Amino acid sequence: MSFSIEDAAQVLRPPEAGLPYLRSDRASDLGAEPGSLALDGDRIASFSADSGARQRIDARGCAVVPGFVDCHTHLPFAGWRAEEYAMKIAGRPYTEIARAGGGIRSSARALGATSDDDVLAQARGLAAEMLAHGTTTFETKSGYGLSIEAETRALRLAGALAASVAQDVTSSALVAHAVPDGFDADAWLDAVERALPQMLAATTVTALDVYVESVAFTNDHLARVGALAAAHGLDLRAHVEQFARHGSVPVALSAPARSLDHLSCASAEDVAALGAAECAAVLLPGAEVMGAEELAPGRELADAGAIGVLATDANPGTSPIVSMPLIIGLAVRRYRWTALEALLASTLNAAWVLRRSDATGSLEVGKRADVLVIDGPIESVPYRLGHNPVAFAFAGGELVYARPDQAWRLAS
Ligand code: NIG
Ligand code: FE
Repeated sequence: MSFSIEDAAQVLRPPEAGLPYLRSDRASDLGAEPGSLALDGDRIASFSADSGARQRIDARGCAVVPGFVDCHTHLPFAGWRAEEYAMKIAGRPYTEIARAGGGIRSSARALGATSDDDVLAQARGLAAEMLAHGTTTFETKSGYGLSIEAETRALRLAGALAASVAQDVTSSALVAHAVPDGFDADAWLDAVERALPQMLAATTVTALDVYVESVAFTNDHLARVGALAAAHGLDLRAHVEQFARHGSVPVALSAPARSLDHLSCASAEDVAALGAAECAAVLLPGAEVMGAEELAPGRELADAGAIGVLATDANPGTSPIVSMPLIIGLAVRRYRWTALEALLASTLNAAWVLRRSDATGSLEVGKRADVLVIDGPIESVPYRLGHNPVAFAFAGGELVYARPDQAWRLAS
């Protein structure tokens, strides 16, 4: 199928072709000039209208941007934890809920009690909701298994999800999320180390992930998971500095990690280190708002030249959010980011975290046609907080979402 997206008010383009990422202090180099875009098959064909295209979109007044890349989600999971949210609102801290058997353990029990079909039905529903909000690539994580068998099952279910949705989906093994009953943290990582070759053989995992927190794992465990990732040719991702400061950033950077996620309690030294490192700073403002967490030093990270990234952290505990436009709106307000900084962090830089920035994440001829038509200018995405700005979404050249009120723009 060929599409011609015509007369847009803005087409978001990188300053040069082939960039793997763009540091946040260069976000203003992105172009957002008026223009058109032609899609042919699954690729972006040109930056001009194509009068011979099978379908045309009248994009007057619209921005055309890359499909969003949500590089940090906890799909697939089972059920929700709304009752914990009510406890948090009433003032009970996440760490206390977790110590009382809630939190990750509660989602692990739910996953164990839910059939494959039901887990996949929930995850597919969320993937469809993500698509309608412009997410054309996303990451999945295990971590709600809490036994080798259940972690392997979660990774297998993530593979089944990937095979059945319109998006490009990657898989991370969050092998150190909570310490399972019957183990101490070291014994659990011994078991993980023994089981990893088999777990990886049955799945398409590209990264290992670890959660450093008083209720989870330590910096020594972070270093150990980093060594395991290196030994298996995988990337290291890490949940660090979420609820309290543990000094994890230097440990993770020397691993070296591909991304450090949360960073709500990061220090000025951490900011400087991330500004110089080839490691993404993945900020999760949804979790920060929902959990009344500390605010990550987002402005400082961008000014320091970090590879700034945004993601939903979609999970049943800290962030039951799947909308990247909402995340962009929160980031702009709370980190005092520009719309361009937030868009960059949700597209090219997020694709780099998943090793997909050669294929997607920016509008470039020859890249996969993961493209959104937004119902207003780029600046309206953060401004109209809570509104879904996606009029049309293309994933791999397929028109996978068309908002009914925008149908008048489409003609054969
Ligand atoms: O990214 N912090 C650790 N992991 C998740 C929360 C998981 C849960 O509470 O279920 C996070 O916030
Ligand atoms: Fe997370």
